[in-house]
Parts: sequence; C-alpha cells; structure tokens
Amino acid sequence: MFVESLECFACGARQGADRCINLCSCGKPLAVRYDLAQVARAVTREEIRRRPAGTWRWRELLPLPPGEQPVTLGEGDTPLIHAQALGERLGLPKLFVKDEACNPTGSFKARGMSVAVTMARHFGQRKLVAPSAGNAGGALAAYAAAAGLEAFVFMPADVPVVNRLECELSGAHVTLIDGLIDDCGREVALRKASQGWFDVSTLKEPYRVEGKKIMGYELAEQFDWVLPDVIVYPTGGGTGLVGMAKAFDEMEALGWIGAKRPRFVAVQSSGCAPIVRAFEAGREFADRWGKGGTVAAGLRVPQAIADFIILRELRRSGGCAVMIEDEELLAAMRTLASATGVCACPEGGACLAATRKLQTGGWIKPEECVVLFNTGSGMKYIEAAQSCLNCPLLPEAAPLL
Ligand SMILES: Cc1ncc(COP(=O)(O)O)c(C=O)c1O
Ligand SMILES: [Zn+2]
Repeated sequence: MFVESLECFACGARQGADRCINLCSCGKPLAVRYDLAQVARAVTREEIRRRPAGTWRWRELLPLPPGEQPVTLGEGDTPLIHAQALGERLGLPKLFVKDEACNPTGSFKARGMSVAVTMARHFGQRKLVAPSAGNAGGALAAYAAAAGLEAFVFMPADVPVVNRLECELSGAHVTLIDGLIDDCGREVALRKASQGWFDVSTLKEPYRVEGKKIMGYELAEQFDWVLPDVIVYPTGGGTGLVGMAKAFDEMEALGWIGAKRPRFVAVQSSGCAPIVRAFEAGREFADRWGKGGTVAAGLRVPQAIADFIILRELRRSGGCAVMIEDEELLAAMRTLASATGVCACPEGGACLAATRKLQTGGWIKPEECVVLFNTGSGMKYIEAAQSCLNCPLLPEAAPLL
C-alpha cells in the first residue's frame, strides 16, 4: 500500500492512516496522501489499463492494506458516451456523458462506499451509519450487506421511495426524519457514540472521496490522457467534484497528465443552491440554505462540510456554479433520456440544462470538449420520472424524435 498519511483539507495537519478516524481535530475533512513517486515506480498507466475492469484496478492509488480484500460489487468503469446528435443540436459537437447510472445500486455512490466499507471493515467496525439524501443510503446498505456488516441509514421522510426500499431490501435499518439531510446528520451525531456506529457521512471519513476520485482517473484514460475543457457536475455534498480535482493533481504528480485542467461547473437546483450563492458572493464558506427543496434529491444538501473545498476547486479551475429551476431540470432529464438513451436522473438533467445555459451565454465555446455527469439512474426516481413526462422537451430534442 502506498498511503503515506492523512492530511487535513483545511489546516494541513498530517497524521498516520493506521487508525479508524472521521475528521481532523479542527473538525474539517481529511485527504489521503500517497507516496506518488513510489506509485510511479511501481505501476504504469498502461499496466492499469490491462487489468480487469473496475475501481480496484487503480489499487496503488487507493487505500488497500496488505492482505485486505476489497468489498466490491463491480463499481466503476462506466461508459463515456459521445452524445453527438444532441451535442450538434446544442452547438457542442464534442459533448460527452459519463453515465454513472451503470454502477451497482444505480449511482456513483457505489464507488465511494466500496472504499469506505472496505476500510471500515478493515478497522474492525461492525455497524456503519450514514445520513442520506437518497442514493448514498442504498449504496451503504448494499456494500454493508456484501461485507457482512450492519447498516443504519437516516433519510428525509420524503426521500424518493426507491431509495428507501433499496435500503430495506438490503437489510439496512432505516430511520426516516422529518427534515433534510443535515437534520439526519445531527440525529446520527447524537446517537452514534452510544450505539457503536461508525459514521461514513460524505467527507466525514477519508475514504469515500477516494472511491469517487476514480471517476477522474477513468475520464483521463477514456480521453487518452488529455482532459476535457469543461466538466459539468451536479453538486450536493461535493465528493465527486473534490475527488476528481484530487485525482487530477495526483495524475499530474505521477506524470500521467499535463497541467491543463477542466473548468468545473457545479450545478445545483434553485430550490437548494448554497454553493452557487457563496460562489457568486465570493465567499470562502457557504451559509446554510434555509427553506426550499428540489426533486433532484441528491442536490438537497443545504450545508456541506466540504463547502470551502468545492468553492476553492471551482475557482482554481476557472469554473463556475449554476442553478437550475426544477421545471427546467425535469425537462432536461426527459431530453437527455430521449435524445441519448441514457437513463437520466434529475441531477443529470440539471447538468444538461446548465450546459445549455452556459453555451447560450458564451461561457462554453462551440469547439470545447464538455463532459456532463449523469450521476444516477432515472429508474430510481419514479416520482420525478412521472412529473417529467408532463414537461415539454427542450427545443433541441424535438428534431431528434
Ligand atoms: C444522483 C446524485 N447526483 C449527485 C449527488 C451529489 O453528489 P456529491 O456529494 O458528489 O456532490 C448525489 C448525492 O446524493 C446523487 O445521489
Ligand atoms: Zn485540520
């Protein structure tokens, strides 16, 4: 294993990675640091490409203690689809969709849970807990079941029904809370010590982000080691975006890519857009978003512990943050599905709507290579799918039908 230490994303304090831990003593998230010079000597990107598919073919860049077997259900290596016809109608011939719906449990949350559950089991944890706006709960339930561990999931009472059912099917203990994901998080914090639960909340332990960063490695490989110009990403807790930024830094240190970085676009719903508001106001941290909500359950995150990291990465990449109305993201969900065949979730729809907005406004240029993330399967959103069928398609979809 090439892990060197855990380093705080905020204060930079370092500590060993040999014990089970949640946050830095300053209360902020921890990043796993590797001896990248040694990794570069131990493995080549060509060798990794030849290994069997999945997250764990990147094992030198993941925490996997000697003798440990990963808890895996085949996550990762999702398709990168050239959405040529839709792209041409949008005026973006180099438009791609990274389709995370193809992961086990139907969302990119599987990637993070594979690594977090592997490490929690390694450290002897038996009971894992997480608050979830939707898909993370299902992924935790599935990976805990695969590992023979117990899972406890706290969800808003109005979570999409499939998210609750998938948890229950996998044997997780589900508690519904009258509130949002941070209210669920507060409940978890109150109970976890007395119950002996290990908290695997987004960025409140160091390993979920490691699983998600593999999206960045895959993207680089799929584009033959030249990154796209723009990445459009639906942002809730921010793990995907923070993970990919970390992956790009690691790859540059490994000598696998150059200094060119994609501009990140964080997409939120106008019903819950704390990052967009903070980005526009030039703030370092985001205030909690008060009332509101969105059908894009994964974006219903009023406050993210990684707010300062997301904002820092958006600015460092020359990116931006965009909010989309729910009616617009539902229409785009339908358009994305009908124009490309990708089983789009509302969060994926939001990315298409944001891409369209930024192209129209001139922020994305016609010749640029753009990747939008469909982070989950539309099949998990029965309620949203029903309402989006009543939405008009975006104009660019019409000629395709
Ligand atoms: C489908 C979907 N997209 C996006 C997100 C937001 O993810 P992140 O925490 O990486 O910002 C979530 C989180 O719940 C989700 O379920
Ligand atoms: Zn710290």
